[in-house]
Amino acid sequence: MEVLHSPVMQDEVLGALAPQAGSLQIDATVGGGGHTERILEAANPDGRVLGFDADEAAIARVGQRLSRFGDRLVLRCANFRELADVAPEAGFGAVDGLFFDLGLSSFQLADRERGFGFRAGGPLDMRFDATHGVPAAELLSTLDADGLASLFRRYGEEPAAWRIAKAIVAERASTPVGTAEALAALVERVVPGNPRQPRRTHPATRVFQALRIAVNDELGALEAGLAAAMDLLRPGGRLVVLSYHSLEDRIVKQFLAGERRGCICPPQVPICVCGHTPRLRLVTRPSQTPSDAEIAANPRARSARLRAAERLAA
Ligand SMILES: C[S@@+](CC[C@H](N)C(=O)[O-])C[C@H]1O[C@@H](n2cnc3c(N)ncnc32)[C@H](O)[C@@H]1O
Repeated sequence: MEVLHSPVMQDEVLGALAPQAGSLQIDATVGGGGHTERILEAANPDGRVLGFDADEAAIARVGQRLSRFGDRLVLRCANFRELADVAPEAGFGAVDGLFFDLGLSSFQLADRERGFGFRAGGPLDMRFDATHGVPAAELLSTLDADGLASLFRRYGEEPAAWRIAKAIVAERASTPVGTAEALAALVERVVPGNPRQPRRTHPATRVFQALRIAVNDELGALEAGLAAAMDLLRPGGRLVVLSYHSLEDRIVKQFLAGERRGCICPPQVPICVCGHTPRLRLVTRPSQTPSDAEIAANPRARSARLRAAERLAA
C-alpha cells in the first residue's frame, strides 16, 4: 500500500511563513516534503529551501520526489539541534523563514521495521536517526521499574505509569518486550479501560510517545533548535512551529513568551539593568488549530497547534 503524508495546516503554515520569490527558507523537518514543496512553489521562481531531517530515508525520498526544483532545494541529513553549524555551511546563515513540523511522519509510522506504530512486528527501535542513541527496546530491557515509571510519567503524562513499569519488569524476566506489538499488548492488558466508554486513542499511545521522546531527546533538540533559529532569522523573518502534544507546545509557548518580553529585571529593581529587549512579535493570535474539515480528512492533524512569530531587529 502506498503511504502518503498529508502536510498539516498547510495553508496556515504558508500564511504565517509568507515565503517570497528570492527568499531563503529552512524546513527543519522535511519528512515527506509536503510543506517543503508548498514553500518552494510559493517562493517561485527563485526562492530557496534548506531541508533538514534526521532520518536518511526521508532525505533520500524527498531528494528524488522534489528533484524538479534543482538547486532551489538543498537537503541535509542532520538533527535540527545542529542548525547553527549546518545552515551557515550550506549558505543559509541569514534566512527569511524557519519552519518546524515536530514529531514523526506517516512514512515512519508505517515502517514496520522501526517500531513507531502499535502493530509494527519488527524491533522496537523508534530512533529517527538509527546511527545515534539507543533503541527503545534497550530502554525497556535495562531501566528499572522506577526509571521506566518516571520516563512514562515525564514524557507521556501516563497516569498508570507505575503499573505499566512493574508489568514490563515482570514480563521481561521471562520474555523480552522487544517489539511494538508486544509492548502495545502488554499495556492493553495492564490498562484495560472501561468497555462502556469507547476510547479515542490506543491505550499505549502515551507510553509510545514517552519512549519516542526519550529515545530521540526530542525536547532537548527542540530547545536547541529554537535557540539556533534566533541567530539565523533576519529581522522580519518568520519562525513557525507545529507541535502535536502539550510537552512540546509548552516549550514553544514559553520560548516565544521569553523572546517577546522586554525588561526581565525583578519588580523591586527601580531602573532596568538587564538591557533585555524583545526579539520576537507574534504574527498570529497566540496559537492556531486545524479546522474541523481538516481533522475529518486527516485525523493525524487533530492535536496540531501552530505558533508563529516574527524576528525583530534587536
Ligand atoms: C511530522 S514529520 C514532517 C512532515 C513534513 N512537514 C511533510 O510535509 O511531509 C517530522 C519529521 O521530522 C523529523 N525530525 C524529528 N525530529 C527531528 C530533529 N530533531 N532533527 C531533524 N529531523 C527531525 C522526523 O524524522 C520526521 O521525518
